[in-house]
Amino acid sequence: MANKTILKWAGSKVRIMNQLRPHLPKTKRLVEPFAGSCAVMMNTDYEQYLVADVNHDLINLYHIAQALPAPFIPNAEYYFQTFNQGKSYYDIRSKFNTTKKHMTSEGIAVNFLYLNRHCYNGLCRYSEKTGFNVPFGNYKKPYFPKEEIIAFAVKSQDAYIACLEWQDTLSLVDYSDGIYCDPPYMGDNFTRYSSSDFTDSDNEALAFALKDINDMQGNPITVSNSLEAKELYADLGFTIHEIEAPRTISAKGNRKPAKEIIAVLNGGAQ
Ligand SMILES: C[S@@+](CC[C@H](N)C(=O)[O-])C[C@H]1O[C@@H](n2cnc3c(N)ncnc32)[C@H](O)[C@@H]1O
Repeated sequence: MANKTILKWAGSKVRIMNQLRPHLPKTKRLVEPFAGSCAVMMNTDYEQYLVADVNHDLINLYHIAQALPAPFIPNAEYYFQTFNQGKSYYDIRSKFNTTKKHMTSEGIAVNFLYLNRHCYNGLCRYSEKTGFNVPFGNYKKPYFPKEEIIAFAVKSQDAYIACLEWQDTLSLVDYSDGIYCDPPYMGDNFTRYSSSDFTDSDNEALAFALKDINDMQGNPITVSNSLEAKELYADLGFTIHEIEAPRTISAKGNRKPAKEIIAVLNGGAQ
């Protein structure tokens, strides 16, 4: 059984860890520029991690969970025990969107965790005008991930966690690092995890940048993506493995398994 994560997250790798693990780089440190739910960190045993994502709310929550100030768990638990009605959900969502800049980092983390576990399908979508805009999920008893927060606090003591665009994360890669990239998938119209889109040309730019790093520094690289990205990665010399992946979350609630790829470039020194 895989270790569960603090958040529900579209594209979470929790359920394919057994298929993914054998293809991950065998290095001391893993660099993950598209960390999402941190399912990979929570289910692997690297000595060190550099995990990053462009979503500020997500990384803020991880910084809080890493430091774990004493009131965080009781405060978050209070929200879960008290506010499971549509009206309170929309009040909290509106306060989050309009008064975030006056909240403490811990307050933002409590609100974000609450919204993630109470919104429809655990989606994380923002509109430029109104901010976080996912409707109420109307679940009987949303799960409070206390064990997962504690496990994250323990595991992340050997992790550097940063809010970065993927290009900036790649600029921090050391010669001895392995890289795992799980970007928003090619051809997927559900790509708005933050306030900007990740397009197919971003996917192409990423594939070329990874090939360059492997050519220049020899880092081993593993990438997850949709079948649509198969040709792109195969043409760049990656070895392609096709797997059947259960979908945890999709915008339309479609949970049928879908084929996807794991693309691998071995490291120069291996
Ligand atoms: C498919 S999800 C990663 C899922 C993750 N592997 C997991 O198991 O939960 C893609 C992630 O890429 C992040 N992302 C989108 N655009 C980005 C960018 N330009 N730079 C860095 N991260 C980005 C999103 O916020 C999202 O968390």
